Amino acid sequence: MSRRIGTLYAVGVGPGDPELLTLRAHRILREVPVLAFPKKMRSGESYALSIVEGLLPEPGPERLGLVFPMTRDPEKLRVQWEETAARVWEKLEQGLDVAFITEGHPYLYSTAIHLVRLIRRLHPEVKVEVVAGVSSPGGAAAHLDIPLADGDETVGIIPATEDREAMRRALEAHDAVVFLKVAKVLDPMIDLLEEMGLAERAVVVTKCGAPDEAVFRDVRALRGRELEYLTLMIVKKGDRR
Ligand SMILES: C[S@@+](CC[C@H](N)C(=O)[O-])C[C@H]1O[C@@H](n2cnc3c(N)ncnc32)[C@H](O)[C@@H]1O
Repeated sequence: MSRRIGTLYAVGVGPGDPELLTLRAHRILREVPVLAFPKKMRSGESYALSIVEGLLPEPGPERLGLVFPMTRDPEKLRVQWEETAARVWEKLEQGLDVAFITEGHPYLYSTAIHLVRLIRRLHPEVKVEVVAGVSSPGGAAAHLDIPLADGDETVGIIPATEDREAMRRALEAHDAVVFLKVAKVLDPMIDLLEEMGLAERAVVVTKCGAPDEAVFRDVRALRGRELEYLTLMIVKKGDRR
């Protein structure tokens, strides 16, 4: 008889409000024996875990905190990723299902993409199920009441960079742009928006939907401010409604 191998679930838990979890995500989180989550190296905190904590049964699944590499050194990255995959495989190999939770949607700029890819490459026999979550662009658009695209309009989801021309092209190309990872490049973004006459069309939100969410409707006032990593900006040209 072949041994049972656990299923890996990559579960999106939405941008911050636990009520935005799907019913499927909720069921899986209540059923799995192992809950894997990304955690910060220093504090050990996990935003994804904080979203679902109140929904877990007692005593709840075994917790598996995974620290993801923040380095760009390819060799260090390889070693750290393999260690992470090995910790997940150790559970799957014992026949235990593992849910890896990730904020937003698991297939939108998420560590879940890499984890799934690696597990599939190293252990092709593992069954993987990807559970959609409300993405931060989708969640923020609803929460801030900014329709992203109507009729023939287009919307771009762009990781913000210091590359001013790339940012300009994104803004020129779409009716609405959601910039992710804006915290580190806020000042150059604000300069560009002012230059393009779009500063009044931008809204910034940190930890959208979480109890400590912050919304900034006057982006110019953010010059010189340090915001948290979980910050995005929506720029909607034309009517915001
Ligand atoms: C690595 S990406 C993860 C995206 C996520 N998988 C999703 O579907 O939204 C991280 C970036 O997403 C954005 N983000 C994620 N959750 C957010 C939230 N609750 N509020 C604001 N921005 C958020 C921020 O721009 C952050 O820098």
